Amino acid sequence: MKALVLSGGAGTRLRPITHTSAKQLVPVANKPVLFYGLEAIRDAGITDVGIIVGDTRAEIEAAVGDGSALGIKATYIHQEAPLGLAHCVLIARDFLGDDDFVMYLGDNFIIGGITDLVQEFVRCGADAQILLTKVDNPQQFGIAELDEEGRVVRLVEKPAQPRSDLALVGVYMFKPAIHQAVRAIRPSARGELEITDAIQWLVDNGYNVRSHFVNGYWKDTGRLEDMLECNRKVLETIEPACRGRVDAESRIIGRVVIEDGAVIERSTVRGPAIIGKGTKIIESYVGPFTSIYHDCVIERTEIEHSIILEATKIIGVSRIEDSLIGKEVEVAPSTALPRAHRLMLGDHSKVSIAY
Ligand code: TTP
Repeated sequence: MKALVLSGGAGTRLRPITHTSAKQLVPVANKPVLFYGLEAIRDAGITDVGIIVGDTRAEIEAAVGDGSALGIKATYIHQEAPLGLAHCVLIARDFLGDDDFVMYLGDNFIIGGITDLVQEFVRCGADAQILLTKVDNPQQFGIAELDEEGRVVRLVEKPAQPRSDLALVGVYMFKPAIHQAVRAIRPSARGELEITDAIQWLVDNGYNVRSHFVNGYWKDTGRLEDMLECNRKVLETIEPACRGRVDAESRIIGRVVIEDGAVIERSTVRGPAIIGKGTKIIESYVGPFTSIYHDCVIERTEIEHSIILEATKIIGVSRIEDSLIGKEVEVAPSTALPRAHRLMLGDHSKVSIAY
C-alpha cells in the first residue's frame, strides 16, 4: 500500500502566511502540521509516500527531504496549479501504479492516527473508503448523503443547501478503480477536478464505497482558529521538559517544554506552552496554549494562546492573544514622534489594535 499526501494548494484562507510559506509547514506545538500526517501514515505501516507539491515545493522538500528522518521514502510530484484533489490523483498515476493507497490532505490533523482505518480498509475489500464526521457548517465541506443502510449515495462539494451534516474528513482510501474515475470526470464550476465527483462516479458505476465515522479528534487546519485549536489539543498532551536555561528569577508553571538552548530570564511561562530551540524569553509572560518556534526573541511582552513562527522578534508589546505570527516578523515600540503605529504588512494581513 502507498500514500499520496497533498501538500500543494493555494491556502487562501491562511493569507498572508501562505503568500510566502506552505500552510502545511505551520507548526503545531513546534512541529509542522504535515509531519503529524506523515507520522500517522508511517505508523500505519506505509512507507512509500508520494507528496504533491506546488509553488511551495522547495520549502516542503527542504523540510521533509527524502523522508528518512520520518521513517518514510518521499517521492515529490509537482502540480503546476491547484487544479483539485482529483487532479492530484491523476498526476500521481505513475507513482501509484496499481497499488491501493491512502490519500491524505497535508493540512489535516487527526489525533489517534489512521492505523485502524487502513486495517479496516484492507479487511473489507471495498473500492474506496471515506471518513465522515458531523459538522455545524456543512456548506464549507464536501458532504456525504447515506441511505438507510449507511451506504454512500451522494457526495456534494460545499453545497449551498446541504442535505446532510456529514463532512468528508481529509483521509481517503482507494483501490485502483479511482484512476478510471478521475479520468472520467470534468472540472467543477470552480474549475477543479473534485474528489467528491470522482467518488460519486465510483458509486454511480457500481463500485463499493464504504464510509466510516471518525470518533476521535479531526481538524482541517485551513484557518487561523483551526490552527490555534490543534495547537491547544497537542499542547495539552506534551510531556514537560527543560533542555534550555531558566534563571532563578523566572517561574515555569505547569506543562511546559523548553527546547535545546532556549533561554528564559526574569519571565513567567504558564503552560501548556512550548518554547523553541534557541529562543529567548526576557522579562515576559508567556501564557497557556502558546507555541513559540525556534530562534525568536520575546522581550517585555505578554503573549497567550498564539503560535509564533521562527526567528520573530516581539519587544515591548502588551498584550498579544489569539494570534498567528509569521517568520522573521519584528514588532517593537517606536520612540519616533509623532507617536503612531508604523506598519509594513503583507497583503491580506489582519491587525486588531487594542486601545
Ligand atoms: P484545500 O484546503 O481544500 O485548498 P487550498 O490549500 O487551496 O486552501 P484554501 O481553500 O484556503 O485556498 O486543500 C486541502 C489540501 O490539499 C491542502 O494540503 C492543499 C492540498 N491541495 C493540493 O495539493 N492540490 C490541489 O489542487 C488542492 C485543491 C489542494
